[in-house]
Amino acid sequence: MKILGIETSCDETSAAVVEAIQTDERSPNPTLKYLSNVVASQTDLHRQFGGVVPEVASRRHVELILPTIRRALDDAKCTLEEIDCIGVINRPGLIGALIVGVAAAKSIAYASGIPLVGVHHLEAHIYANWLTGVEIEFPVVCLVVSGGHSDLFYMSDHGKYEILARTRDDAAGEAFDKCARAMGLGYPGGPIIDKLAKEGNPHYVQFPRAKVDETLDFSFSGLKTAVIRYLDGLSVEPHIPNIAASFQEAIVDVLVDHTFRAAQDKGVKQVLVAGGVAANSRLQSAMKSKGEELGIKVIAPPPVLCTDNAAMAAAAAYFRYEAGDIAGLDLDCHASQPLGSRVS
Ligand code: KG4
Ligand code: ZN
Repeated sequence: MKILGIETSCDETSAAVVEAIQTDERSPNPTLKYLSNVVASQTDLHRQFGGVVPEVASRRHVELILPTIRRALDDAKCTLEEIDCIGVINRPGLIGALIVGVAAAKSIAYASGIPLVGVHHLEAHIYANWLTGVEIEFPVVCLVVSGGHSDLFYMSDHGKYEILARTRDDAAGEAFDKCARAMGLGYPGGPIIDKLAKEGNPHYVQFPRAKVDETLDFSFSGLKTAVIRYLDGLSVEPHIPNIAASFQEAIVDVLVDHTFRAAQDKGVKQVLVAGGVAANSRLQSAMKSKGEELGIKVIAPPPVLCTDNAAMAAAAAYFRYEAGDIAGLDLDCHASQPLGSRVS
């Protein structure tokens, strides 16, 4: 079975073809493999503004969406006739940007009769883990960290999410981007800080690790303020790699600590990491070593599947399709919508 994925929720126009193959009769899950994953990034366009400008993003999506879909099919050496399902991210995200991908998906579904599936952006990030080839066994705890979200979920089965924690203020990716700006670095800040931190001392400055009451919720705005105050108070030229490494270590410490506290509370044997910030090399290594120490397996996608892409949308759509969750041509877009619900 082949799934065409489409993603336009922010500043990446992306289309991909994912194939689901039943390789092992004893396994309930097929192996998911991406045959193509085209990401037309608009980062260069938005860099001059220091962040994504929604209207500019929508207009660029309009220009890029059809060539991107065409290339995804060509790269996969596949025709539209071979596609069994179209999975499109329709929530949450920039509304004008989402509309472009959803309109393209609906038009193709209408013209070809291919079933359509609407996918939640965070669910897509989580399902990037099904493209790693690692067997995932429920229940799992998932850490989803991106430019707009920092959430911990307990996932008992496909499509079943309980929210264990979320951020009370800035998302982890937002903190990376804002602190990079304060340090005079470029946009987006996450990859730049990741690279610079490799040459720095993570213990150079002891930035705060915020706790929110007795919960597992995150709070990163105090850390951002601490970085800005630290920079303002310096009378000498700042040593940016050391500051970047210390800031990154503060974020990573909190993410690792809360994730494994949640994993131990819930008694899970596997932890999934997802979202753009999951591409961070220090986060990936710290998660893996803590997992080894506690006997909990950590699964994380390669960086190209962590940041926004359509292969993750196609992977999530496969399981929605199998569950019979097919959308009509009235599929709508939503700027905000939580994934799952909070139990307490
Ligand atoms: O998931 P994503 O591509 O888009 C959203 O859904 O928001 O995440 C983008 C975020 C940005 O804030 C970016 O700075 C961050 O992910 N990011 C990283 C890295 N690569 C991307 N943060 C830390 N380290 C990285 N290597
Ligand atoms: Zn994302």
